[in-house]
Amino acid sequence: MNYKNKNIDFSNLHLETKMVRGGTIRSNFGETSEAIFLNSGYCYNDAETAESRFNGEAPSFVYSRYLNPSLKMLEDKMALLEGAEAACVMGSGMAAVFASIMCQIKAGDHFIASKVLFSSCYYIATKVLPNYGIEVTLVDGPNEDEWRRAFKKNTKLVFIETPGNPNLEIVDIKFVADLCRQHQASLIVDNIFASPFSQSPFELGADIVVHSTTKHIDGQGRTLGGCVLGNTKFIKEVLLPFHRHTGPALSPFNAWVALKSLETFPLRMERHCNNAQKIAEFLESHPKIKRVFYPTLKSHPQYEIARQQMKNGGSMMAFEVNGDKKATFAFMNRLQIIDISNNMGDSKSLITHPATSTHFSMGREAQQEMGITESMCRLSVGLEHADDLINDLKQALN
Ligand SMILES: Cc1ncc(COP(=O)(O)O)c(C=O)c1O
Repeated sequence: MNYKNKNIDFSNLHLETKMVRGGTIRSNFGETSEAIFLNSGYCYNDAETAESRFNGEAPSFVYSRYLNPSLKMLEDKMALLEGAEAACVMGSGMAAVFASIMCQIKAGDHFIASKVLFSSCYYIATKVLPNYGIEVTLVDGPNEDEWRRAFKKNTKLVFIETPGNPNLEIVDIKFVADLCRQHQASLIVDNIFASPFSQSPFELGADIVVHSTTKHIDGQGRTLGGCVLGNTKFIKEVLLPFHRHTGPALSPFNAWVALKSLETFPLRMERHCNNAQKIAEFLESHPKIKRVFYPTLKSHPQYEIARQQMKNGGSMMAFEVNGDKKATFAFMNRLQIIDISNNMGDSKSLITHPATSTHFSMGREAQQEMGITESMCRLSVGLEHADDLINDLKQALN
């Protein structure tokens, strides 16, 4: 009953090894697979121990709203995955997005975001932040002049989603990171659409990365979760006090599911991305498809930037069907394998009509600004065989 945890040096190990071995904390029983710690509180042998945990002399777990061994294991593995110094997991991707912004912005500050955003991120930028006296500017993501003009003396924070949800618009992370540095602003990158398999924002100059573990991290559509990553100073001194006292904690069970899923993350993502590339090429050649948005197709408007900042095209794409909303719905309804869903990043391929679901709440005008049309579909490519998915799309289009 005295298992001694190994101290593995991960610095020169490959992603596959990091994802199987990283973060593991075995209890005194020496269990092979990580245990789930479904406890909310902790007991101490004496009052002095409790005191030393709270005053920081002997830091350890005190309450699961703060941290728990299951959450800690996921945080350490997520940090290895993104190449970050530190991580903090939360109850959902939106909790992570919200906390990463609110923990460091105040009334009178200026906030900039790229225009193509997931609707809940768009809601935070356009509805929540202005209510708290924060000035907001939305920028056309690929337009470098607009970015240069957007910065002000009080610009504190910049938020970008790249590739953007739903149309896969790409923002040049390095370009925006350089501008942020010149203006002493922090850059948050939402890396959910790409996943860390396809893009490493820290290598391109991002200060903070946010994730929804709900998507490719879990990868099988079971649990909600989110994560903020950054340097130790930011996570410890800026984010954690906000997180501890406002309570967006992740359930230990959900943390355990995501933790175990990460063991197969590189294997799964390789198949997701290979399938997606084949499907994007098939759709682009089909006469009933007007256009396809996939980062590694030469037709993508920001193909050159994608090639520089992404390792592959990822699992997500958007495309427009030749026809109106009725024709688009008819095509979606005829799919036999691919499911209609608003979720993404699942082993099952999922198709979405952004205008009437994920991006419905922002209204027609904002949708038009983002280039969301009634014939646009978003496809999250799963782990089925690529030929079966192509045949399914072919029969539905025909
Ligand atoms: C780009 C992006 N950011 C944030 C989120 C929010 O994640 P969650 O649903 O886990 O809160 C989503 C969800 O679809 C998303 O697509």
